[in-house]
Amino acid sequence: AAPGLIDRFGRAATDLRVSLTDRCNLRCTYCMPADGLPWTPADDLLSADEIVRLIGIAVRELGVTSVRFTGGEPLLRPDLVEIVARTAALEPRPEIALTTNGIGLESRAVALRHAGLDRINVSLDALDDAAFTRIARRPLLHRTLAGIDAAVAAGIGPVKINAVLVPDVDVDPAELLEWALARGHELRFIEQMPLDADRSWRRAGLVTAATVRERLSARYALVPDAAPREGAPAERWHVHPHGQTDAASLGTVGIIASVTEPFCGDCRRTRLTAQGTVRACLFSHDEVSLTTALRAGAGDDELAGLWRRAMWAKPFGHGIDQVGFAPPARSMSEIGG
Ligand code: GTP
Ligand code: 5AD
Ligand code: SF4
Repeated sequence: AAPGLIDRFGRAATDLRVSLTDRCNLRCTYCMPADGLPWTPADDLLSADEIVRLIGIAVRELGVTSVRFTGGEPLLRPDLVEIVARTAALEPRPEIALTTNGIGLESRAVALRHAGLDRINVSLDALDDAAFTRIARRPLLHRTLAGIDAAVAAGIGPVKINAVLVPDVDVDPAELLEWALARGHELRFIEQMPLDADRSWRRAGLVTAATVRERLSARYALVPDAAPREGAPAERWHVHPHGQTDAASLGTVGIIASVTEPFCGDCRRTRLTAQGTVRACLFSHDEVSLTTALRAGAGDDELAGLWRRAMWAKPFGHGIDQVGFAPPARSMSEIGG
């Protein structure tokens, strides 16, 4: 078989993250500026045909086995259900997942399930309106909660909940965990990375994985999961009642320590932005456009070759804690989470 997406450090990218739009209906402080960003004009976004064509090349020729749709907010793409259905019809069929803020899921969860969506991760940073609105800058907590319920009702599972903890809004991780355990969701706490448009991220204020573990340990006992991590960002823990590791597990929790415990050495990700550029790493300083060649009539082999070359140049990792670190020019909503 043709070689997959191998980089100079011997890592093979089997997980493709496809950003479907840079638009969003929230303005989370760790991602977007308060006033939003100029959206990419419609003509510069990949069409559904182009997206499915590129995913097809990735699964047939480049060894990609799992696809995750992100944004911006992917539910803002009117053709999301169509894109999922056409991805599910590819041979070999990749696993299909979605990362979303949940707003608008109520009307589309069932259709997404029928289209072939296998898994869903919903971002939810706080459980009370005031804290949610401070972080997301939009008073839409109820919409996200309704979206999560809709995903469960539609049978899309497991539903994972992503919570980024930010320094200036005090959210109690144990309270969030209690909420998630009661509903059977897998909650993951995420260290904030310097990908905010405002450039206000400071290493000193970071809510670290160590802090989260400490705060959770006041109410629960955490036992590390024994299963191999397989390149996943989250380190998983089994949650038991406080002081009772012998008692039945209450569920699991994940901690994504991108900054303090980087997992770049086992990275399996490649990214396609909404404009059709390949990003080898979240923190790459350059992107390789597939769109120009695609729109000029390039064949599958040529596009696969461009993608391979882009991944060969993948940096070892983000180096956030290294001297001289510079964040990428584009922020999270433009890169695609
Ligand atoms: P699962 O397959 O369900 O484990 O999904 P995931 O955790 O890979 O994807 P998700 O979109 O839910 O991302 C959760 C968090 O993981 C994001 O907020 C990021 O903080 C982090 N993350 C995802 N991909 C990367 C990556 O390539 N590098 C780093 N450093 N963090 C990442
Ligand atoms: N650092 C860490 N996670 C982030 N996300 C968005 N911006 C950041 C950041 N700066 C998360 C979102 C979503 C996932 C795709 O990425 O909350 O859950
Ligand atoms: Fe992979 Fe880059 Fe993320 Fe590290 S920062 S895990 S190398 S995408």
